[in-house]
Amino acid sequence: MMANAAFGVMNGEMTIGDFVLINAFTMQIFMPLNFLGFVYREIRGSLANIDKLFDLLSQAPAIKDAEDATELTCANPAIRFNNVHFAYNENRQILNGLSFGVPPGAKVAVVGESGAGKSTLMKLLFRFYDPQRGNITIDGNNIASHTQQSLRSHIGIVPQDTVLFNTTLLENIRYGNPDASDEEIEQVIRLAHLGTFVESLPDKLETTVGERGLKLSGGEKQRVSIARALLKGAPIMIFDEATSSLDSTSERAILSALRNAAKGHTSLVIAHRLSTIIDADKILVLKNGTIVEEGTHTYLLEQGGEYATLWQAQQREDDEASSDKDVKGS
Ligand SMILES: Nc1ncnc2c1ncn2[C@@H]1O[C@H](COP(=O)(O)OP(=O)(O)OP(=O)(O)O)[C@@H](O)[C@H]1O
Ligand SMILES: [Mg+2]
Repeated sequence: MMANAAFGVMNGEMTIGDFVLINAFTMQIFMPLNFLGFVYREIRGSLANIDKLFDLLSQAPAIKDAEDATELTCANPAIRFNNVHFAYNENRQILNGLSFGVPPGAKVAVVGESGAGKSTLMKLLFRFYDPQRGNITIDGNNIASHTQQSLRSHIGIVPQDTVLFNTTLLENIRYGNPDASDEEIEQVIRLAHLGTFVESLPDKLETTVGERGLKLSGGEKQRVSIARALLKGAPIMIFDEATSSLDSTSERAILSALRNAAKGHTSLVIAHRLSTIIDADKILVLKNGTIVEEGTHTYLLEQGGEYATLWQAQQREDDEASSDKDVKGS
C-alpha cells in the first residue's frame, strides 16, 4: 500500500498529504491487529490455567468435618491412640494396631528406625489422614468428632522439615500467632536462641528468608520453627526431630528452653538422638508398626532390649566422636 501510494505521488496522481493519510490508516489498522494477537495468546494461556484451577477446586478433601462436629476446648489434654491401623497405600501397612496414651502434661518420646512411622503418628494426630482402623482420642473424645480447625489450633508442632514463607523473619515467626505482641515475639526469639543470629543480620527481623527459607541454614530454620511453635503456646506440643540440625551446645540450650516451654503442656517428642529424651516420662520404641517396648529410660536400659541396644550404639558413636576430637586437639 505504501509503495503504491509512493508511486501515486511520483506520478502526480496523489498529494503528499494522501501519502501521510494512507500511512496513518495502515498504522491504525495494524496496531490493534497486533494487539489482538497478544490478547488471544493471553486468553488461551489463562483458559488453560482456569481449567487447572477448577480441577483443583473440585477436588473433595479426603478429611471432612462431621456434620455435628464440636469445638475442641481443653487446657491440659490427655491423648490416646487406640489400636490404630494405618497405611498410605493399601499394599503397605505402616501402623499395625498401635496403642498408647499420653497423660495430661506428660512428655512422651517416640523412637524407632527411619521409616518406622514416627512422623506418621503426628500427621494422624493432626488429622491430615484418618486411621483405617482404631481411633485417636483427646480427653476421651475421638478427634474426628471435633472440627479440624479447633483441633489444629490446640496443637503446636515443630516439624521435621520446616516450611518458611518467602517473607520477613518477623512474619515467619508471627505466623505461630498473628495476634502476638512485640514483647512475646522478643521472648520466643530469646527462648529459641535466635537473638544473636537476628542481631548479626543487617536488616534484623526485617530480613527476607527466601523461597522456603533457602537463605537460612538448617539450624536457623529449625530455630525459627521452634520460636513459631513456642509463640503459638498450644496445649499439645509436638517436636519432630526438633533439634536434629543443631550443634550440641545450641541443642542443650534449646532443649532446656523446650523443657520449660513444655511444662504444663502435653508433649510428644520424636528423636533420633536418645540423649535428648532421657527425661521423658515414657519412651515408646516403634518397630514394624507397633510398639515393641515402653517405659522410662532407666527401665528400658534395665530390660536390655531394643532400646538398650540403640542406646549403647549411640554412646559408642559419641565416645568415638569425642576421642577423634581429642586426637585432633592434641
Ligand atoms: N504421603 C505418603 N505417601 C506414601 N507413603 C508415605 C507417605 N509419607 C510417608 N510414607 C511412608 O511411610 C513410612 C513412614 O514414614 P514416616 O515419615 O512416618 O517415617 P519416620 O519414622 O518419621 O522416619 P524418619 O525417622 O526418617 O523421619 C515411610 O516408609 C514412608 O516411605
Ligand atoms: Mg519423621
